[in-house]
Amino acid sequence: MKRMLVVAGALLLSVGAVVAQQDQVKRTQAMMKDNGKNAGALSAMVKGDKPYDQSTVNAALAQFEDTAKNLPTLFPQSMKGLKMEGDYDPSPKIWEDKTGFESQIQNFAKVVADAKSKVKNLDTLKAELPVIGKQCSSCHETYRIKKG
Ligand code: HEC
Repeated sequence: MKRMLVVAGALLLSVGAVVAQQDQVKRTQAMMKDNGKNAGALSAMVKGDKPYDQSTVNAALAQFEDTAKNLPTLFPQSMKGLKMEGDYDPSPKIWEDKTGFESQIQNFAKVVADAKSKVKNLDTLKAELPVIGKQCSSCHETYRIKKG
């Protein structure tokens, strides 16, 4: 009986861990989706589809900054090998080349901080958005896998 309880307890614990992992995956994906939305809003202004709006710019840059701060914890070791819903999975390189991944995060944080101090109008947005976009793609190229 005692043994049964121990087994049941261990099972419950591992269920708890799986739930925590799924929450983590959701949090990570939600953050990346917000990045995508905000990058889209900025690019609409650059293309002239939307008028320049400083508060949208500020909100987008604040969210990128938040992402940069959170990125070091968005992919804990326990997430390695997990499949995500949607079109992308994190690459195992995130955990195999931690130094490389961390330098991607730092570069991203740097261009976002830079953009925050520089973007004041459409011209500066036009200059800075590609710099940020390059950093998004640079990380995705190595550390994100498009599902086939
Ligand atoms: C340091 C690495 C890194 C940086 C910087 C980064 N991303 Fe990502 N991104 C990832 C990884 C890894 C995934 C795959 C896991 C996932 O989908 O959450 C991803 C997934 C995504 C997705 C797909 C989300 C989904 O599941 O539908 C979008 C959209 C996205 N990123 C947008 C952006 C944008 C826009 C930026 C820049 C403003 C950015 N990312 C910066 C690593 C990064």
